[in-house]
Amino acid sequence: MAKPLLMIPGPTEIPLRVIRAMVRASEPHYTPPVNPGLIEEVMDKLRRVYRTQGEVILLPGSGRMGLEAALASIVEPGDRVLVVVAGEFGRMIPEIVKRVGGVPVEFRVPPGGRLDESRLEEALERGGFKALAMVHNEPSTGTLYPAEGVGRLARRYGVLYLLGAGSSLGGVDVRVDEWGVDLCISCSHKCLAAPMGLAMVSVGERAWEVMEDRKTPPVTFLNDLYRWRRLWIPRERGGLLEQGLRRVPITLPVHLLYALNEALDIVLEEGLEARFERHRTASRAFVKAVEAMGLEILPDERLSSPTVTAVKVPEGVDDSKLRRRILDYGVLVAGGLSELRGRIFRVGHMAETASERCIRAAVTAIGLALRDMGLKADVGLAVEEVSSVFRS
Ligand SMILES: Cc1ncc(COP(=O)(O)O)c(C=O)c1O
Repeated sequence: MAKPLLMIPGPTEIPLRVIRAMVRASEPHYTPPVNPGLIEEVMDKLRRVYRTQGEVILLPGSGRMGLEAALASIVEPGDRVLVVVAGEFGRMIPEIVKRVGGVPVEFRVPPGGRLDESRLEEALERGGFKALAMVHNEPSTGTLYPAEGVGRLARRYGVLYLLGAGSSLGGVDVRVDEWGVDLCISCSHKCLAAPMGLAMVSVGERAWEVMEDRKTPPVTFLNDLYRWRRLWIPRERGGLLEQGLRRVPITLPVHLLYALNEALDIVLEEGLEARFERHRTASRAFVKAVEAMGLEILPDERLSSPTVTAVKVPEGVDDSKLRRRILDYGVLVAGGLSELRGRIFRVGHMAETASERCIRAAVTAIGLALRDMGLKADVGLAVEEVSSVFRS
């Protein structure tokens, strides 16, 4: 059977250029042309995408590993961390904080609901927090949160700001330095459209200071970001490494580095602004089309994510049957998680799939599947909506 089109919130479709870039023999991660060479290139490009002058640490693993590495590196036993919990990915953060000995305090936001910044400020005012953590784009509800405003609050109250940008970096603007983000976590296999297997964490000066001042060692050895700093970042870039070559705390997956390098070229060739605009257009087109077929989306439209849309499953429809039928038409979409299981399905439009062709394919598959299940859906009108949004 032909491969389905991946319209899930990651992993995403990988351009052929990226796949070709990693078809090569093994090269060690500690000698040229990888080190120095490829690593510096990737770092420069990642800093441009993160919009930071600070450092980015690249860890083998997935986005969640990056989240755990960042939290384990800054949280000491007894430290209080205020966590915005607006969905499944946000919910993971208090769990990690607890495991590393910290005390999480949850600031709950209803699924798809607005984040009330003045209430968040009241929570911060009560004081005593070392850090504030939030997921920028919650992929479990398809909702984008105001990372810039929350960054202002974090600075006003002098707490570290940790931002999970797993499903936003490369598809939605993330301005690490301007927004005062101290630790920003993402991964290779979503809007950057590289293969699965790399997590990345940008680290700012305040976060390094907190790590330097720790009284207890982090519970993790391999993912201790300060240890990475000592081994990984050259002195000329503010790090602690004496000689030119980066020492690497573990064996880096060099093939994935080549692929990420190519994927970052594609992002930068398109241009960040153009890429973000394309994601916004794709999301608008998709939302308009599903609404034309009588469906509703979960969040308020103004909060709906440019990279993932959460669509409510129509009354009386079995969501797994619906998704299976959509797959029969060649498009893979994702189900809801936890309490949203069966109530929504989620469609990723990231990187390659934030395009008119892919949005049209997804909308057609969804419309035909709805019709097969006995619902009325005007597929023609929905496809028209897609074209009209992309035309305008
Ligand atoms: C905040 C955050 N962290 C991590 C991830 C991805 O984690 P993983 O790569 O482990 O699936 C996501 C996914 O969208 C995310 O939003």
